Amino acid sequence: MRLDFTRYGNIVILTGAGVSAGSGLQTYRGPDGVWEKHNVEEYGHAQTMIERPEKTWQLFGGLRAKLRAAEPNAAHLALARLEARLRPDQKFLLVTQNVDGLHQRAGSRNVVELHGNLSLTRCSDDSCGLEPFLDEEAHDDHVPACPRCSSVLRPHIVLFGEPIPLDAAWAVKLALRDCDLFLAIGTSGVVSPAANFVRSAEYAGARTVYVNLEPMSPPNPAFKEVFLGKAEELLPELLA
Ligand code: OAD
Repeated sequence: MRLDFTRYGNIVILTGAGVSAGSGLQTYRGPDGVWEKHNVEEYGHAQTMIERPEKTWQLFGGLRAKLRAAEPNAAHLALARLEARLRPDQKFLLVTQNVDGLHQRAGSRNVVELHGNLSLTRCSDDSCGLEPFLDEEAHDDHVPACPRCSSVLRPHIVLFGEPIPLDAAWAVKLALRDCDLFLAIGTSGVVSPAANFVRSAEYAGARTVYVNLEPMSPPNPAFKEVFLGKAEELLPELLA
């Protein structure tokens, strides 16, 4: 089965951790998921970053080396190839919940990182003015301080309880408004706001397709087509 992308003028793709599973990275939910091993309340919430930043760094800082070692897989590459071969009049937006940067490394260009990028560190004080910077350190044994204002530094990611960055939210909103093809790939569909994007796409009249290892639970009726399997196996064929 192959999707005919030439028929669509406004394509929006949403990806989740399942797209990077083929690169050896853990998903968040499921048997070996990040939240199965680390209590989400304890490690994943914005309040933890405020009250016990060492916990946030222990988990997310510890994942940095794994991200650096990972390579884009056939799913990332198929998405980059698709974008490269679209006509100039076709709009394409790749919205990812992933913080691993693998889409960009595969060659994708129009990417919105909804949940930030774990390779970057920023100041926890938004008024400080320090630009987010590339940081290979795990900081899992010592919470780092901002070189400008001495506040606590933090990973440049969106934690539970925090809003999506305004520029990312705005770009997605605009793309969904005119969307005629919406694909969600490798995401459990339980985390908002990404989980609601398909409803906006459906409202805009888009064809809505879900590609995932397993069915969404509970199913979201806004998806009209479902392809089950590994993204790294399905996408090279679906997107050929
Ligand atoms: P989840 O871990 O919730 O879901 C990953 C989905 O990928 C599951 O439904 C799996 O069945 C599926 N999957 C696993 N391997 C796959 C493969 N090889 N091919 C295709 N699908 C596969 O991850 P997300 O939906 O991305 O946020 O989670 C959303 C957000 O929740 C994350 O961005 C993260 C998390 O808390 C932050 O940490 C900020």
